[in-house]
Amino acid sequence: GLVNTSAMFHQAMEERFAVPAYNFNNMEQLQAIVIGCARSASPVILQVSGSARSYIGTAFLPHMAAAAVDLAKEHGLAIPIALHLDHGSDFELAKDCIDSGFSSVMIDASHHSFADNVALTRQVVEYAHAREVTVEAELGVLAGIEDEVSAEHSSYTRPEEVERFLEQTGVDSLAISIGTSHGAYKFKLQPGQEPPPLRFDILEEIERRVPGFPIVLHGASSVTPSHVAMINQFGGRMDNTAGIPEEQLRRAAASAVCKVNIDSDGRLAMTAVIRKIFAEKPGEFDPRKYLGPAREELIAMVIHKNREVLGSAGRI
Ligand code: G3H
Ligand code: 13P
Ligand code: NA
Ligand code: ZN
Repeated sequence: GLVNTSAMFHQAMEERFAVPAYNFNNMEQLQAIVIGCARSASPVILQVSGSARSYIGTAFLPHMAAAAVDLAKEHGLAIPIALHLDHGSDFELAKDCIDSGFSSVMIDASHHSFADNVALTRQVVEYAHAREVTVEAELGVLAGIEDEVSAEHSSYTRPEEVERFLEQTGVDSLAISIGTSHGAYKFKLQPGQEPPPLRFDILEEIERRVPGFPIVLHGASSVTPSHVAMINQFGGRMDNTAGIPEEQLRRAAASAVCKVNIDSDGRLAMTAVIRKIFAEKPGEFDPRKYLGPAREELIAMVIHKNREVLGSAGRI
């Protein structure tokens, strides 16, 4: 069956790697993530946002999670799999997910005041922990895709708030803001410009204050340049985009960061392949002929990230 994130994060902390948390919206994405993680012997967190849960439908989702567990075994390895709610917005949604079999939930009240964030997180923790479900919360706000990245970014996590937040909430892991952002347009770069480095000084200060506590990195897609180039080559248009360089993610994975969230890179991988097939074979109309190769590309991406970036491969 599904597991919560406790043992995964304990191992990740001890062995200095990060567990991948891949978002999915449909069957092919879920299959690719599970097969890629089974083939690379990696634990995995399967995550769905509130909107992904609505898209899939609550009748389907528990069965997809159960099928994911069986699929890993079919591919030869019973890897630990958690089903996690990504960016839960309120208590009712978190409760609903817990009641329907999720093994982990995020309550994201990071846009609220510190006191309101604590109160809502605490409420979810009480309900979840009574049912052996782990809880992720967030302190600090990730930059929006339209925000200019600058040294004056006002919403980085404040390390001095972390201890108090953990004590008052009892949460199991904490998402922090150190310069990543969601989506495929993290940085608008002029040709030749490098993305600004993540604020490892803030991460280190947090680690110093709460040693051994699992930290989560959202917005961690690299916006894979080869996939962006393929999208642009085959009729798409994504200008001047850049994500988090792999070297920075490797450094984060070796730190107290125990969970790295990846959604956009999976979307880009599938879109790139589908665009190529549509461009090269305009007569193709069997969904298996484009969703199948897109799934293969996503499997390869998952294996690459687990092996070369997050260090989660071979940990089973
Ligand atoms: O952080 C959000 C995830 O990338 C998924 O968002 O499913 O609501 O588009 P979405
Ligand atoms: P990306 O948009 O960088 O893939 O981030 C995903 C994420 O943080 C999901 O919670
Ligand atoms: Na780590
Ligand atoms: Zn996120």
